[in-house]
Amino acid sequence: MSRTFTTKYQNTCPAPSGAGVLQLRGAPSVVKDGDLTITPVMFTGSEYFGAEIAGVDWTRAVPEDVVKQLVALSNKYAVLIFRKTGLDNERHIAFSKQLGEKLEINPFFYGRENDRVGEPFLWDVGNIELDGSLVKENSRRWHHSLGNALWHTDSSYHQNRSKYSILLAHGNPSRGGSWTHFADMRQAYADIPQEKKDQLEDLVVEHDLWHSRKLGSPEVYHTPTASELAAKPPAYHRLVQTGPDGRKVLYLAAHAKKIGGMGLEESQRLIWELIGHCTQAKYVFSFEWLDSGDMVWWDNRQSMHRANPYTNEMTARDVRRSTIIDDGPLAFGISEEEKVAAGFGKLGNQ
Ligand SMILES: [Fe+2]
Repeated sequence: MSRTFTTKYQNTCPAPSGAGVLQLRGAPSVVKDGDLTITPVMFTGSEYFGAEIAGVDWTRAVPEDVVKQLVALSNKYAVLIFRKTGLDNERHIAFSKQLGEKLEINPFFYGRENDRVGEPFLWDVGNIELDGSLVKENSRRWHHSLGNALWHTDSSYHQNRSKYSILLAHGNPSRGGSWTHFADMRQAYADIPQEKKDQLEDLVVEHDLWHSRKLGSPEVYHTPTASELAAKPPAYHRLVQTGPDGRKVLYLAAHAKKIGGMGLEESQRLIWELIGHCTQAKYVFSFEWLDSGDMVWWDNRQSMHRANPYTNEMTARDVRRSTIIDDGPLAFGISEEEKVAAGFGKLGNQ
């Protein structure tokens, strides 16, 4: 395939500025839920997307009844924002383990000794090297990160995918320059015409980490190394799924490479047409990192997100991510039989 259908995004919040940090849109005023105070971000008139949550006591283990309350809020809002939690690596991991039995283990593609955090349950997704300097332009890490600036959901390239990601800021980010952007895959699906929904209903998608790296940086990731390919073969998931709140979603990401029964170019055209639909401003909000301890917990099964890309003007950003493995009914994507029936070869045999 000689062309891509990827969109290049601006390095700033896409919503008009000046209306407050979260650009609240249509959301009713703050609501109370026990000890928690909930400020919704977006509201369509009947459905919500995103909420800032206050009232969790992060100085101790979160009680199980509060964890249950937060999971219910996650199902409803898909993206939960907590300010100034004060959590460190250990407590970040401990809270993550309260949300699922297994956390993803960082494969340290470029060596644990080269990882500044060095903690297998955390991904260093900031922009700082071991010696405290910013990531060097044109290093392999720089190019690897460019794919994170494309709309995606974490870990769709794993056959046992993730359900949640929890990203925590260490150190004070520079104001007015550090954003993560989120898209509501439930509302985006709901607004698709029924005729189109019928066409999409049974499609199966191949997700490949190296595909999104190539889209983000064609010059470096045109041909991933043999060890990169061996470390991460593709995975297969249904395009249309039912999310944890019972609403249907499109399960999509820049990792999405091929659709069963279609060629690569036809697949990419449809995938990026759908990603374009799902990431219209009416489905998106941009979250600004303001303080050390700010934390965002998003549900990968019902949202997409993207980072701002590395640039020459970026300032230091120390953010670390834990990833909670899905233990729900769709955790492992499709079966081997379904995959073959959808037009793909045997799992791991492309
Ligand atoms: Fe991500």
